[in-house]
Amino acid sequence: MRINLVGFGVIGKGFAKTLIMKRDWLKARYGFEPSVVSISDITGTLVNPDGIDLSATLETVNRTGRIIDCPGATVMQSLDAIRGVDAELMVEVTPTNVKTGEPGLSHMLAAMDVGKHVVTSNKGPLALAYKKLRATAEKKGVQFKFESSAGGAMPLINLANEVLSGDEIISIKGILNGTTNFILTKMTKEGTDFETTLKEAQELGIAETDPSYDISGSDTASKLVILTNAILGREATYSDVSVQGITKITPEAIALAKEEGFVIKLIGEVEDGSLSVAPKLVPENHPLNVDGTLNVASFTTDLAGDVTIVGRGAGAIETNSAILSDILSIYRSGAGR
Ligand SMILES: NC(=O)c1ccc[n+]([C@@H]2O[C@H](COP(=O)([O-])OP(=O)(O)OC[C@H]3O[C@@H](n4cnc5c(N)ncnc54)[C@H](OP(=O)(O)O)[C@@H]3O)[C@@H](O)[C@H]2O)c1
Repeated sequence: MRINLVGFGVIGKGFAKTLIMKRDWLKARYGFEPSVVSISDITGTLVNPDGIDLSATLETVNRTGRIIDCPGATVMQSLDAIRGVDAELMVEVTPTNVKTGEPGLSHMLAAMDVGKHVVTSNKGPLALAYKKLRATAEKKGVQFKFESSAGGAMPLINLANEVLSGDEIISIKGILNGTTNFILTKMTKEGTDFETTLKEAQELGIAETDPSYDISGSDTASKLVILTNAILGREATYSDVSVQGITKITPEAIALAKEEGFVIKLIGEVEDGSLSVAPKLVPENHPLNVDGTLNVASFTTDLAGDVTIVGRGAGAIETNSAILSDILSIYRSGAGR
């Protein structure tokens, strides 16, 4: 299978590392020999129809930060690479934009238009234009997979749609953002206030320099929309979610909750058709009470009752567990060969 890789930051480089790490295992286990034939970032594109040397590319980009510095790279734009470099599948891992969905939305539509399967971790296009993307994939007869976009390494969409396919999923709730969970956990354990704890999280590299997307609840809301659409078969968008973040949570509120045996967690929830993100009281001994940067999601189902899964919601290699699983699912279905 030939792959166009679009985006070569944390996740794109993690994808290259994962393929290097798993090359022999993938061949022995599945007879799967993926070949990355183009890599694009904002500066340009590297192309090799026989398969790019991923180790050499990582070495250059780790040093300079730019694909254009790799020997043979050109200023070819990502859209031209998607349309013009022959491949069966595109991995789209550019930055998320929940206002426009770009550049990911155009990348995904262009890839589908030329008959390529799409695997992505990019939430923005999914939270804004799921219906359009789904319809385009169906019209063009290609597969569209995005397990890594909500819950990172946690296999939520596959768990619900494949493993629990005989169950009706009645509601979904969980902690879908590691940064906010880290901040709330630290505030709970150390009694610190929000601003101080956020600063510490930034110093540790857990919170971004601009943390607004996480702490406002927007990131959780995007992931909730993705899970709602993919698992409950809805056509929700970001504007359907009532969103409240964690900026107003005080050490006093946390202490009060603690006295009553509760912790405060930022919970994304879809129940009875309505989608919400808000800080909620969670009993201390409840499965949703996970610490640090961990994520967790719980499905309430008609047959199995509650099913809860805990895992890493982010990380260069962890997220690529889900990306690789989507690619293998396409390969094993017989498509993209
Ligand atoms: N990091 C995680 O743990 C994680 C987990 C789950 C999902 N995600 C999602 O995965 C996606 C990638 O995340 P990341 O952490 O890898 O982001 P990142 O480190 O910012 O990397 C983004 C990459 O996309 C490139 N890019 C930007 N605009 C582009 C364009 N128009 N055409 C081609 N390439 C372009 C960037 O190039 P330049 O560097 O040259 O600008 C960079 O190589 C995001 O949508 C994110 O929300 C991330």
